[in-house]
Amino acid sequence: MAKRIAVCNQKGGVGKTTTAVNLSAALAISGKRVLLIDLDPQGNATAGLGVERSGLRGSIYEALLGQDPLESIAIPTRVPDLFLVPSQPSLSGAEVELVGLPQREGRLKEALDSLTGNAYDLILVDSPPSLGLLTLNALVAAESVLIPLQCEYYALEGLSQLLETVRLVQEGLNPRLSIEGVLLTMADFRTKLTNDVIQEVRQFFGSKVYDVVIPRSVRLSEAPSHGLPIALFDPTSVGARAYRSLAEQLNMERENEDARDSRVGQRDSGPDPGRECGSTSTTQEPGPGSGGESTSTGRDPLGTAGINPGESIPTAETAR
Ligand SMILES: Nc1ncnc2c1ncn2[C@@H]1O[C@H](COP(=O)(O)OP(=O)(O)O)[C@@H](O)[C@H]1O
Ligand SMILES: [Mg+2]
Repeated sequence: MAKRIAVCNQKGGVGKTTTAVNLSAALAISGKRVLLIDLDPQGNATAGLGVERSGLRGSIYEALLGQDPLESIAIPTRVPDLFLVPSQPSLSGAEVELVGLPQREGRLKEALDSLTGNAYDLILVDSPPSLGLLTLNALVAAESVLIPLQCEYYALEGLSQLLETVRLVQEGLNPRLSIEGVLLTMADFRTKLTNDVIQEVRQFFGSKVYDVVIPRSVRLSEAPSHGLPIALFDPTSVGARAYRSLAEQLNMERENEDARDSRVGQRDSGPDPGRECGSTSTTQEPGPGSGGESTSTGRDPLGTAGINPGESIPTAETAR
């Protein structure tokens, strides 16, 4: 089944859309079939991929309201194997309209569950800059959340709210939700501020922070106005290389997860005469309090073990 990753941070302008678009494109170019869902009424991901919002057959709005199946709304993009479920301005009304509907937080999950089995390898969701019902739908539908953090003075500010929301979703609506990783964006390595922020975020999040840091790059900010991801707009630029590395990292982690899952599958399918019983492999075991679904990868992202129900989450303030 497709892995579902929500790109979330309730702050605007931190690089969510830039990451969702360019990571999706890099993953598609690496050979995966990718579906990007634009869950932001502003539709920046839709525009950034060169899709004209007028005259669309449908948008994520209709899918959330159950009017159209997602599959009929997904459209191809200029990147082969990258498909988009676009957003339309009407989506801004969805926050209000969804309130009265049953399963209001699970509408996106339901829509994604209806997709046929192997249509996509990965599904990315670009979220709006709020912790409202749309973002909640993203967190309920996803297996993991990727958090872009801008390398600026207040990078960690307000993050405790997002982590608290993730924890609440884990406790109730989506126990499988994990932190995919924290991505530092718009880094200007010449400045002390950027280097201080990188150090502070790494202290706070440890191994969950991607080694890859996205540099501030004019080419990255120019690409959307040409309706192209950076991989097509300027494939040799530093920004394109950074998102390519991030895609490679994700692919590697996914392979590790798949290998682990198949080992667990073999273990669960009954006694294996060829294998030693009672093996004490720690790498395959879910972390404490993980609910049995933790992801163990090379980079050791938090997985569901990272934020344990009942465990207090350090706030941005305590990390300072
Ligand atoms: N690495 C980067 N270098 C330069 N500009 C960037 C970079 N990442 C994002 N931007 C620009 O910053 C602005 C906000 O980024 P965006 O991805 O739209 O943030 P969000 O979706 O979190 O609101 C956009 O104009 C975008 O082009
Ligand atoms: Mg955005």
